[in-house]
Amino acid sequence: MTTADYTEKIPNNVELHEDRRLQRALESWQPNFLHWWESMGPTLPTADVYLRTAVNVGREGWAHFDHVAMRDYRWGIFLAERNRGRRIAFGHHKDEPVWQKVPGEYRADLQRLIVIQGDTEPASVEQQRNLGAVAPSLYDLRNLFQVNVEEGRHLWAMVYLLHAYFGRDGREEAEELLHRNSGSAESPRILGAFNEETPDWLSFFMFTYFTDRDGKYQLGTLKESAFDPLSRTCEFMLKEESHHMFVGTTGVDRVVERTVQLMLEHDTDDVGPYGGIPLNVIQKYLNFHYSVSLDLFGSETSTNVANYFTSGLKGRWSEERRSDDHRLTDESIMVDAVTDDGGIGQTEVAALLGLNTDLRREYISDCQSGVTRWNRILDGAGLPHRLKLPHVAFNRRVGAFASAEVSPDGELLTAGEWAERKGRWLPTDVDKTHVRSLMQPVHERGKIAAWIAPPRNGINGQPFDYDYVHLA
Ligand SMILES: [Fe+2]
Ligand SMILES: [Fe+2]
Repeated sequence: MTTADYTEKIPNNVELHEDRRLQRALESWQPNFLHWWESMGPTLPTADVYLRTAVNVGREGWAHFDHVAMRDYRWGIFLAERNRGRRIAFGHHKDEPVWQKVPGEYRADLQRLIVIQGDTEPASVEQQRNLGAVAPSLYDLRNLFQVNVEEGRHLWAMVYLLHAYFGRDGREEAEELLHRNSGSAESPRILGAFNEETPDWLSFFMFTYFTDRDGKYQLGTLKESAFDPLSRTCEFMLKEESHHMFVGTTGVDRVVERTVQLMLEHDTDDVGPYGGIPLNVIQKYLNFHYSVSLDLFGSETSTNVANYFTSGLKGRWSEERRSDDHRLTDESIMVDAVTDDGGIGQTEVAALLGLNTDLRREYISDCQSGVTRWNRILDGAGLPHRLKLPHVAFNRRVGAFASAEVSPDGELLTAGEWAERKGRWLPTDVDKTHVRSLMQPVHERGKIAAWIAPPRNGINGQPFDYDYVHLA
């Protein structure tokens, strides 16, 4: 069960050959996927890339590394191993056996959750498609492509569920996942952050740090699902996802490290003229990506999400490690709110209604760990500067603060004050132009762009100057 079958057209560990109808349906979706990859995926022509491919879902040795042509990447369907005794951990059906089929009454909701998750996966590939042309090193280029092929595989993961469990509606939704495109005027991706451009590598690192981390938290709640195939799919996706966040965490590390070197060398905060990215610009990019990622968690309160929880479709982060009754019918939670006098405050609601807030808070404390780590680099260099997460109400377009303008310190502003001051907190055209001007490709083995420090380690034990990518 755990070893992937690579003799099949679609590699899988779900015994796909036993269901000819499903196999044929997925095999007819496959060329559409490849067409999408060719037309919307990475634009830089490559001969091959040193990529990891999943070969096993078990704890040991799950991936294989080799140079492969990206078009021939073996995108496949891999579910974590089935736990036969697994029971529902929360909600109205708590302690009942998990579901191997979709209960009729939850069909529409489950399909919606899968489509929303599925939509984000190809979206990020689209957002990042032009970055290869300006990669700071072959090591970084390889990491970009690794993230891209795995997001493609995550699309496969969701499309498998749609085809296998949702009949004709599911097949239609699978087609739509290839038709919507990031930033498209006619058919954009479903969620706002996935229609933003990723025009430079600082944005890419911030995206993989903050927005892929949102993905981690969404997958974490779906991993708790009573619908077992969804749970097992998400469990395996989380394993791949951790590399994406590693790319973000260490990418920002290396930008900060290089900036610090230039600050010390030239005794100035303004490292722009020396080919670096000033710390205040890094902070602005952080502010932007963090705030749009907070929006992905939705409104502070949600009856839909309360129903998802009660029905067993979607749990909480680390559901099983929580010490409450896992039903939450009598609990309450304080959620962020605009107070009656127009200030920023909190209000008490039923815990079930506040589940988005609960998840957003878990995410926020996780985000803080990266900031602490980046600040250690500043501290170690003897610099007094610090990066920080902006206030939760800053630059929000979804939820309680959507119509309030708030500074990174949590100060409520008038529209006029916001317009006048937002250039101090969010990237301006000048900042973006500077960052883009630094994005000159470095596609030579062992070389690196001047705005970023080299990584401490290569991939899979290989050195930094390894030939990670062969260009076409
Ligand atoms: Fe993903
Ligand atoms: Fe990801």
